[in-house]
Amino acid sequence: MKYLTKMSYGKENRMNKIFQKDGKTVMLAIDHGYFMGPVTGMEEPIKATEKLLPHIDSLMLSPGILNSCVPTDFNGGIVLRSSGGSSITQPDITNEIMTLEALEAVKLNASAMALSFYVGTEFEKQTIEALTMAINDAAKLELPVLAVTAVGKALKDKKELRFLGLCSRMAAEFGADIVKTYYCDGFEKIVKSTPKPVVIAGGKKLDSNRDVFELVYSAMQAGAAGVDLGRNVWKNDDPEIMIKVINALVHKNLTADQAEEMFRDLKK
Ligand code: 5RP
Repeated sequence: MKYLTKMSYGKENRMNKIFQKDGKTVMLAIDHGYFMGPVTGMEEPIKATEKLLPHIDSLMLSPGILNSCVPTDFNGGIVLRSSGGSSITQPDITNEIMTLEALEAVKLNASAMALSFYVGTEFEKQTIEALTMAINDAAKLELPVLAVTAVGKALKDKKELRFLGLCSRMAAEFGADIVKTYYCDGFEKIVKSTPKPVVIAGGKKLDSNRDVFELVYSAMQAGAAGVDLGRNVWKNDDPEIMIKVINALVHKNLTADQAEEMFRDLKK
């Protein structure tokens, strides 16, 4: 990590579980069930993830899925979803609170806690409170916190640079150690104005593999510290090939063309 202050051994060691020596991570997000239930592609977490685990650096998931579906010899970083409070049955899913304490996360051998905060929503203050409480709680145990930035429906273009830049900088200002946001035009500006590693979420499944490769390539070129992708991996017909190719895009600087070629070769 290239920042001025030094972390404690405990925090840096946990960060090193998430990020490889090149400062990048391939994080697989499988936490969607915490508000979506058994979403298509992740109905059976063990089946959906067992072949993917060897090809990732870290796994973002809920505590219950960790202790029931992930082998205890999994050696990658564990990023535990620690916020929740609404389901897809609600008109507004942003009504979240902190759902896991840092001590419980450490008992599960977490490398980081992850909480969403929702800017531009009725629950902006409440979710910032949850995030900052978690940061304070985690600091006592030298546990990193990943902030998941989310922009409310009220803001016209949720994936616009000024809003994503706003949330990302806010997360860094509050003391989050890792920031997760969406890729957008001008993403390099978000990276520059957020003095913490920024990883990208994927969002809904894209139309083609090429779209996913271009997304990851562009984000990495713009300075992302890696990816935290979910649906674009495990909803793919070939999730194992997909994650291998994404790993190469992140760690081997593949271009989108090279990624397509690698995908074709692995598919043969
Ligand atoms: C759900 C999350 C997901 O982890 C995040 O959105 C990444 O998954 P995807 O790439 O499917 O969007 O935070 O709230």
